[in-house]
Amino acid sequence: MTASLLDAVERQAASCAHIGSPLYARLLTGIAADITAGGISAEVLDGVSERPVHDAVPLRYLATAHRLALVGAAPDLAARYPSCGGAWDGTDPTPAFLATVADHRAAFGDGVRRNVQTNEVGRAAVLAAGFSLVSRRTGLPLRTYEIGASAGLLSHWDRFRYDTGSAQLGPTDAEVRFGSDWFVPPGPTLEPSLVVVERRCADVAPVDVTTDDGRVRMLSFVWPDQLERFARLDAAIETARAHPLVVEAADAGEWLTDRLAVGTPVGAATVVFHSIVWQYLPADTRDRARAALAAAGVGAAPDRPLVWMRMEPATAEHADLRLTTWAGGDPLEDLVAEVGYHGAGVRWLFDG
Ligand SMILES: C[S@@+](CC[C@H](N)C(=O)[O-])C[C@H]1O[C@@H](n2cnc3c(N)ncnc32)[C@H](O)[C@@H]1O
Repeated sequence: MTASLLDAVERQAASCAHIGSPLYARLLTGIAADITAGGISAEVLDGVSERPVHDAVPLRYLATAHRLALVGAAPDLAARYPSCGGAWDGTDPTPAFLATVADHRAAFGDGVRRNVQTNEVGRAAVLAAGFSLVSRRTGLPLRTYEIGASAGLLSHWDRFRYDTGSAQLGPTDAEVRFGSDWFVPPGPTLEPSLVVVERRCADVAPVDVTTDDGRVRMLSFVWPDQLERFARLDAAIETARAHPLVVEAADAGEWLTDRLAVGTPVGAATVVFHSIVWQYLPADTRDRARAALAAAGVGAAPDRPLVWMRMEPATAEHADLRLTTWAGGDPLEDLVAEVGYHGAGVRWLFDG
């Protein structure tokens, strides 16, 4: 068990070093040494999971400490975490971390048994471009149904501001903003006049960010030295709080089957969407979701089209944004963009 745990911690350290969290890379190196020495980390993490890599046990451990630092219960750690108003001077944060574990043993026992739950707001940039394409193609207002929505933040995509340099979308005073640096030139065409007439979303384990606990929980999963990402998530949470939207607690297959049972209403484009979700769905959930889409697609027509839009893995470096459109006859399949996993580098591929 300790060997696989150590492997999970070392892999996570390498990944943090590679994708921009030197603070966590350093801390995880210290935690690995603590496990090897049979310290408190070994005691807290032992037996938590048979598959510590798969279950992201190191991230659960780090997030528990981050949560305590964010709520003011771990001041020594907060002083080292930029997300908590502190500053990291490059020295080893492990002693402060381990002291926090010792002071809050029960909170860690609970925290390391709770799943990591993320909602990556950066993915909104490619989704907004995809919704723009649907709006332009159909000339209809949009009904958006998101599955695997986590805290539902991406369902607020039209409340964020996008500016590719040549096209804009969203309120000019939006709290969440995406500039031209998110898009590989020449970038997509955006449709500033598109309208969302209905939005619903669901997740099997939703997080309610209108509660303080839900907000801090989501923030705790962002790495404390990734300030831009942290600020974007916090701004998206503020947006969600200003426009309450319940993330329904449901399995994606069941929920879509219910939502699409009556077909698609005339006068709107119904868009089912998701990002980095498909791989987490059990096989029967996927089958049910596909079947619900295909059945509703049979009744779709140009005045009541159905679109399945998904941002899902393509290669180790990027995800694809794909659309399937039912509007009568055979469904139309489009690969419209490539994008980094956190939403950066939107490369628009669709011509027309
Ligand atoms: C990696 S997160 C992605 C969240 C969000 N779509 C995003 O892009 O930030 C995957 C999400 O899928 C959800 N999920 C896993 N299995 C599910 C299921 N059977 N039905 C619905 N949601 C599920 C998880 O709870 C989690 O919120």
